Amino acid sequence: MTKKRAAASQTKTLFITGATAGIGEATARLFASRGWFVGMAARNSAKLEALANELGSDKCSWHPCDVTDADQVSEALQAFSQRTGGHLHLLVNNAGILHAGGFEDIPLHQHHNIIDINVKGVVNCMQAAFPLLKATPGAHVLNMSSASAMFGSPTLATYSASKFAVRGLTEALNVEWARYDIAVTDVMPPFVDTDMLGGPVRDKVKAITRLGVQLSAEDVAECVWNAAATRPLHDRVTKPFKVLALLQKHAPETLQRRVVKFLAGM
Ligand SMILES: NC(=O)c1ccc[n+]([C@@H]2O[C@H](COP(=O)([O-])OP(=O)(O)OC[C@H]3O[C@@H](n4cnc5c(N)ncnc54)[C@H](OP(=O)(O)O)[C@@H]3O)[C@@H](O)[C@H]2O)c1
Repeated sequence: MTKKRAAASQTKTLFITGATAGIGEATARLFASRGWFVGMAARNSAKLEALANELGSDKCSWHPCDVTDADQVSEALQAFSQRTGGHLHLLVNNAGILHAGGFEDIPLHQHHNIIDINVKGVVNCMQAAFPLLKATPGAHVLNMSSASAMFGSPTLATYSASKFAVRGLTEALNVEWARYDIAVTDVMPPFVDTDMLGGPVRDKVKAITRLGVQLSAEDVAECVWNAAATRPLHDRVTKPFKVLALLQKHAPETLQRRVVKFLAGM
């Protein structure tokens, strides 16, 4: 039996970044509870270790790493691959940060951090994971994008741009990596009730008040589970955003900008 075919019959393996909180933690828990082996990455070692102890060392591995550091990412994936025999069925690029407010009011280093983590972090993980994905039949990369990758989002400009970048990477590699039997897709949830929307963010982003926060981290984890099976190029998660995506195809840009202005309270 070839290595690729042997891997197909084994326990499914997930490597997920941003596993210490919110959507990443909920997704790690869900996949582990459904029999997958889960490699969990994030910067906070204590949280990773506590979660790993809870899930059980036979169900997971934990890898402290900062996704902005390509060497750390590479080491994490090498350590993961030693636990999985060189296989990776699903890479979920979930680690991300958000800074909200008027563009000129957000310090430059925070704009840069968003790009470094949300965009360069995804690039680092995809490069480092490629050999494992290529060696695994039917491998899949699922990127955590956002509804803010549908329209440039006022008061979230750089965050929104970072998620457009994730969308671009997804669309390009969906085509490019098909030759290696690697699917590349993304999930684009609207607002989710996690620490990311804590603190002053809700006051700064009027769209949160207008649209509400309808999703929990567990809802999105379930959506990741379904997307891992059905693999739509973009999963917009909720019905209103699925409808909005249809409208976006046909509505004139002036109308679209009016909707964006209304949602942003501008
Ligand atoms: N919440 C929302 O409304 C929403 C909506 C759409 C999309 N999303 C996207 O969903 C993803 C998860 O968001 P969330 O709401 O679950 O956020 P969250 O609760 O704030 O969790 C973020 C996770 O990312 C990790 N992380 C941050 N910087 C990192 C770095 N440099 N290297 C490695 N890990 C890092 C954090 O762990 P450490 O601090 O331990 O590193 C944490 O585990 C993000 O990509 C976000 O943009 C969120």
